[in-house]
Amino acid sequence: MPWTVVDDADAIEPEDVIRFDHAGRTYAVYRSADDAYFATDGLCTHEQVHLADGLVMGHVIECPKHNGRFDYRTGEPRRAPVRKALRTYPTKVEDGRILVDIPD
Ligand code: FES
Repeated sequence: MPWTVVDDADAIEPEDVIRFDHAGRTYAVYRSADDAYFATDGLCTHEQVHLADGLVMGHVIECPKHNGRFDYRTGEPRRAPVRKALRTYPTKVEDGRILVDIPD
């Protein structure tokens, strides 16, 4: 699948996350404090909870349900109860818009 437009780059505040739904799947798209953008699957790997409702702390997303944590740059678990990594997706900013590379 080609690069897919998520939203305007300013639609996400620094150190925040938004939910992005596309083609029947859900993603979480992050903006770090230094204005880098990242994307992961949108649902926690522990239970099916939207991570965009969680809390961003540095490069970590904390799940709103049981406070499990992931590094959103790599998807790696950072605190129990999460054990399985999130899938991550390449992002870029072009013409003031965030794009994510979603594979077929
Ligand atoms: S649902 Fe995310 S930590 Fe349990």
